[in-house]
Amino acid sequence: MITELVSNSTEDTMEIARSLGKALAPGDVIALTGDLGAGKTCFCKGIGESLRIPAARVVSPTFTIATEYEGVLPLNHIDVYRLDTAMEAVEVGVDEILAATKGICVVEWAEKVEELLPTDSIRVTFVICCDDRRKIVVSTPEQDRFAVFHELTTRFLARG
Ligand SMILES: Nc1ncnc2c1ncn2[C@@H]1O[C@H](COP(=O)(O)OP(=O)(O)OP(=O)(O)O)[C@@H](O)[C@H]1O
Ligand SMILES: [Mg+2]
Repeated sequence: MITELVSNSTEDTMEIARSLGKALAPGDVIALTGDLGAGKTCFCKGIGESLRIPAARVVSPTFTIATEYEGVLPLNHIDVYRLDTAMEAVEVGVDEILAATKGICVVEWAEKVEELLPTDSIRVTFVICCDDRRKIVVSTPEQDRFAVFHELTTRFLARG
């Protein structure tokens, strides 16, 4: 199911992410796509909060590709911005992290490693509209567990 949402603030983006967090299950991969500053890391902070990981801990250090945070489930935060090809991502073990995760994987700049992603990944695309407004398009698998996400995000639905 594809849902088009509108966020007007970082807090909106975090709330949308926390709502998705309520539907997640171990092994889920969330593939984030969007320009610099579109809100990918902000979204990851919201996923982290749903796993009781303080948002301040979830950052994107310049030279770190993958970070694991301890939460209710482990959160594997992968940011492949500095890599050029999926092959480079394999060299640093991104495929192994995706295959072995016992928790949730969030991948920033996921389009760069498309061939490594499970086909049932949850897709989230961010478009910068203006100032603090972002269009956030979420594509979830057709599974009942995502109903809670859809219920909790109705107020963010794009109109028209
Ligand atoms: N509605 C919004 N949702 C999320 N971030 C917003 C929003 N409006 C403004 N911002 C600002 O946009 C920036 C988003 O930063 P963030 O690090 O989450 O982006 P990113 O997509 O991870 O960027 P990068 O590609 O550099 O990793 C922050 O400075 C935040 O304050
Ligand atoms: Mg980021």
